[in-house]
Amino acid sequence: MSAAHALPRHLADAVPTGLLVDGEWRPAAGGATFAVEDPATGQVLAEVADAGPADGLDALAAAHAAQPAWRTVAPRERAELLRAVFETLVARTEDLAALITAEGGKPIAESRAEVAYAAEFVRWYSEQAVRINGLTRTAPSGTNRQIVLRRPVGPAFLITPWNFPIAMITRKVAPALAAGCAVVVKPSELTPLTTGVFAEIVRAELERRELPTGVVNVVPTSAAGALTEPLLADPRLRKLSFTGSTEVGRVLLRGAAQNVLRTSMELGGNAPFLVFDDADVPAAVEGAVAAKMRNSGQTCVAANRFLVHERVAAEFTAGLTEAFGRLVVGPGADPATTVGPLIEERAAARVAEVVQQAVDGGARVTVGGDRPSGPGSFYRPTVLTGVDPGARAVREEIFGPVAPVVTFGSEDEGLDLANSTDFGLVAYAYTRDVDRAFRVAERVDAGMVGLNRGMVSDASAPFGGVKQSGIGREGGEAGIEEYLESVYVAL
Ligand code: SIN
Repeated sequence: MSAAHALPRHLADAVPTGLLVDGEWRPAAGGATFAVEDPATGQVLAEVADAGPADGLDALAAAHAAQPAWRTVAPRERAELLRAVFETLVARTEDLAALITAEGGKPIAESRAEVAYAAEFVRWYSEQAVRINGLTRTAPSGTNRQIVLRRPVGPAFLITPWNFPIAMITRKVAPALAAGCAVVVKPSELTPLTTGVFAEIVRAELERRELPTGVVNVVPTSAAGALTEPLLADPRLRKLSFTGSTEVGRVLLRGAAQNVLRTSMELGGNAPFLVFDDADVPAAVEGAVAAKMRNSGQTCVAANRFLVHERVAAEFTAGLTEAFGRLVVGPGADPATTVGPLIEERAAARVAEVVQQAVDGGARVTVGGDRPSGPGSFYRPTVLTGVDPGARAVREEIFGPVAPVVTFGSEDEGLDLANSTDFGLVAYAYTRDVDRAFRVAERVDAGMVGLNRGMVSDASAPFGGVKQSGIGREGGEAGIEEYLESVYVAL
């Protein structure tokens, strides 16, 4: 099967639109397909095979069958496979970026940056595959030795979101393969095309090296629950890794409890962006644009609440209003665009609702606050001031280009506001005082802290949250641990 409709011919020919099961691209068992749309135009880009529960179980059977062979492949060979995939991803940046923009709406420059970010996970874990360390020591009693062996946890089910259609896949697939785990990937039904190209790159490389091709299986579906339930109930599955909302994460955790799966959960956020009265305000404005506007605000690490000291609030708000006013809203494929569409119509409608609710509660719009006319799920970059701390714009993850500003009067008050949420993925803080910077990093409820920086993501760093933002870490040395277990041997 290949893609059709509004994709440029050279891309359409290169995009597999089937299911990848046991090294073969195939249609769904029932022959069903679903449509993938361009959020900038609403046009259908392709019809993709729609996996059902039986297809999911076939994919798990393939991963389970490939597992014993894959875990015994030498770490160096696993590393070299990943290195080759990294090289191909870099070489195919333009095609992949065009696809990310087509199905996800991201401005093309951001899509190129996503491919680089995605490739970096593959390179990092190609380097980690040969550095999986156990431990040996004499027991404290001196009576024997203690040895800790590391081994792959087993077949892993990886559920990935639409906001980074390739980086969130490589962040899971690369450490899983490096650790020796076979995988089943369920990409978002909104962005399965990029996944298809990535999966074909890995499949072709496995085949070329005569390695088991059933190690990577991909099952796009429009019915995630129906596909997921039997997989979680199947004892052949040993690991679940999910990136998405806390609400869905909770459901998956309940399912994962049946077979007591190892789980990694990268869930929702509600990131505070603190600007203290000693901050470099123009730098904070620049950081705020970066922390808010990546992928039009549709990232888990997007700054959600701008908590600004009352002494610098006017300067910060004026700077942010001007900066947002300069952003160019449009289709991601246009190189002039800096803010693309939201992923789908209902996302744009939800953002409009959140803004309206804040305005009804007394907030003032200093820029934006509406949708441009014409097709596509666009929303204009928006700054809100005088926002009630109880407003949805402050309590919920906005997932759109909207910045609510709330003021505070003291460091303690700022930190209390920052921590007044069930989430704790990331926090940002701008201050020139090093002691204060460390106090914030130590006291804020977050798994990651950006100090005088609007961007924390890095393939070599442990990404993840506290509280209801998740379990486990992805990236860095920690990311591969999620796919390994320890076996203690007393000798
Ligand atoms: C996410 O939004 O889930 C990931 C963002 C990132 O890795 O920077």
